Amino acid sequence: MNIELRHIHKHFGPVHANNDITLTFQAGRIVGILGENGAGKSTLMKILSGFQSLDSGEIWMDGQHVAYNGPEAAIAHGVGMLQQDPLDVAAFTVLENFTYGRRGGLALRRKEARERLVQISSRFGFFDLDPDTPVAQLSIGQRQQLEIVRLLALGVRTLILDEPTTGISAEQKIILFDALRELAHQDGLSVLLVSHKLEDVIALCDEVAVLRAGRVVGTKAMPATTSELVSLMFGQELPPVQRDTGGAGLKPMPTPAIELEKVQLRGRRTLIKDLSLCVKAGEIIGLAGLEGSGQEALLRACVGLAKPLAGHLRLCGEDVTGKSYRHFLQHGCAFGAAGRLEEGLVSGLTLTEHMALVTEYQPVVDWRRARRLTEDQIKQYNVRGTPDSAIETLSGGNQQRMLMALMPQQPVLMVLEQPTRGLDVDSARWIWQQLLERRAAGTAIIFSSPELDEIVTYSDRILVFYAGHVTEIPDASRTTIDELGRLIGGHSDGA
Ligand SMILES: Nc1ncnc2c1ncn2[C@@H]1O[C@H](COP(=O)(O)OP(=O)(O)OP(=O)(O)O)[C@@H](O)[C@H]1O
Ligand SMILES: [Mg+2]
Repeated sequence: MNIELRHIHKHFGPVHANNDITLTFQAGRIVGILGENGAGKSTLMKILSGFQSLDSGEIWMDGQHVAYNGPEAAIAHGVGMLQQDPLDVAAFTVLENFTYGRRGGLALRRKEARERLVQISSRFGFFDLDPDTPVAQLSIGQRQQLEIVRLLALGVRTLILDEPTTGISAEQKIILFDALRELAHQDGLSVLLVSHKLEDVIALCDEVAVLRAGRVVGTKAMPATTSELVSLMFGQELPPVQRDTGGAGLKPMPTPAIELEKVQLRGRRTLIKDLSLCVKAGEIIGLAGLEGSGQEALLRACVGLAKPLAGHLRLCGEDVTGKSYRHFLQHGCAFGAAGRLEEGLVSGLTLTEHMALVTEYQPVVDWRRARRLTEDQIKQYNVRGTPDSAIETLSGGNQQRMLMALMPQQPVLMVLEQPTRGLDVDSARWIWQQLLERRAAGTAIIFSSPELDEIVTYSDRILVFYAGHVTEIPDASRTTIDELGRLIGGHSDGA
């Protein structure tokens, strides 16, 4: 399907999120939609997929002017979108989600639906999608696979993916990219991919369109180099990341922030036994591994969100085994989860209300104070939004900045799941500068990331999770991305 967007405008109050956007997308091509956080990418894609209305402008499909009101109408026109944060219904099973939104809905014969689900998922190698699993138990990558299968079953001819590779594993990414290539280059679908990961864009896209502050600032046929894309996006090239921006040659302090002793943990797919770990103040531990290998369980155990099945935890020397999340927070821990709008931020609440939630413990909230704090943090963290913005109206990258802004300034321990998820290249660097500064002041940091370069660049030590085993790389500066890649795939000899 050939799509033409003509002079699209969209305002949110004073924000001109899409400013006169004119673009053409051809059938059978994969087009990358690039731009800094808040540039207007998601807004444009939501307009095209009916999740948002346009103020003015036109959408043309195969030479016909079309107008629709709502995602179902867009799907009827063949346009389907995977949102930046999954929209599926967590209480449902895979099969129930799959049939959701079909004519006849849940009444569709289950057997038929089941067969269709299995057929499409196996074509693309989405083998993990068991129809009877509750969606709540799926990983981000699996939920995404489910949504793609659902949209394909509904017959979409234009598939829009908003940051599909944030939060999924390297193996899921390979499967996803193969599926997208097949859909575009063999089945002739138009695929639109919003992404901050330039290496993904380079690997996958046939062309790119770049937005800045609501406008199209350029389009380009691929191939292009990373620095060409960065220049298009930011108007300049960015200097390479310095590992020790927080304090050159920093040594961790002798005091342990958190200690784990022979801890046993249940991960999504694995059981981890006898994990002992001591993280000192000012030390950064990176967790690497395929999705579901236990990193998420360790992160959550370190803040009391998952109870270890055996073993002991000590926080600054105090035994905190079995203590609540609240206890960990009150004793200097901070946690940033990957599922921003599920675990970290609360949809419907404003930025000020979020600030009140994390800073106001007394029964009567001092709103003036909360508002002032919010204003300060918005400034400091360069969040595009106001104290009264509802959190879900911020762009994805700005939600991530806000999540960081809500964390205590100088916690003993920061536990971060994919801290730069969804951030543009420049913002990701900026977040790490903030983290390195806190580390220099003595905060211990444990983080996970599917980006091996992020782990190699910022960790002092690395824990590699593979099939229930955790191996330590004691000096991260001596390892390479390739070596780490082999280790997370289970090649313990590094060969
Ligand atoms: N529902 C909304 N209400 C108010 N403002 C909104 C809403 N949706 C988006 N905006 C604003 O419009 C601008 C563009 O947001 P959009 O989500 O399109 O950016 P983006 O390019 O997808 O950014 P990111 O890379 O961070 O996801 C931002 O300033 C954002 O705060
Ligand atoms: Mg977005």
